[in-house]
Amino acid sequence: EGGISLINEGQLTVCTHLSYQPFQFERDGEIVGFDVDLVDLVAEDLGVQQEIVNTPFETITTGAAFNTDECDLAAAGMTITPERAGVIEFSEGYFDANQAILARADSDVTDEASLAGKTVAAQTGTTGLQYAEENLGDAEVITYEDLPLSLQALQNGEVDSVINDNGVLYDFAKENPDFEVKFDIDTGEEYGIAAKKGNTALIDKVNEVIGAAKEDGRYDEIYQKWFGT
Ligand code: ARG
Repeated sequence: EGGISLINEGQLTVCTHLSYQPFQFERDGEIVGFDVDLVDLVAEDLGVQQEIVNTPFETITTGAAFNTDECDLAAAGMTITPERAGVIEFSEGYFDANQAILARADSDVTDEASLAGKTVAAQTGTTGLQYAEENLGDAEVITYEDLPLSLQALQNGEVDSVINDNGVLYDFAKENPDFEVKFDIDTGEEYGIAAKKGNTALIDKVNEVIGAAKEDGRYDEIYQKWFGT
């Protein structure tokens, strides 16, 4: 339909990088989350099933996962940046995000200055890592391959804090009251769904489906399901 061709007939193959709760994570042996529900609307519209492929985050942001035909789309709580937009095709923004700093509830972390001499865990290839490298020069930044490994490092006392997107850190703090989001950093990010550079037919479809879902209440329903209190 409309010039859309899929890598594997009858399915929408979607790359992500697990785990990034509540956007994509495993629950009872199934991959679920906000992004999964949103992309399900696109698959439904195309009359196919969504098939999720887990891959290192940087294979998505560099376009490698698309250029080797590993997936049609990627949905990974991924921020639209000019650099990434040079090598992959982005949808319109579908979710607003900022950075945040998580620490033990009883720690004395209060603001950026209070991180001086402390360690900060960041996730490889992310906007959070980039922010830390550019702005938290007085802290020691340690990188981890995924979000769960950086949260584990905090829980084990290996690091003093974690930088990542506000949505995932608030979600973690809600379930782990020994930890708190100490402050937000207003980076004004927007998540986009991505495809191979030049695959505007598929991205137009994503924009059309998400646009309609925002109009008719399905987007709000999904939002409430994953972020409602
Ligand atoms: N929004 C951040 C970025 O795009 C972090 C995304 C991490 N996503 C993930 N699925 N682990 O750099």
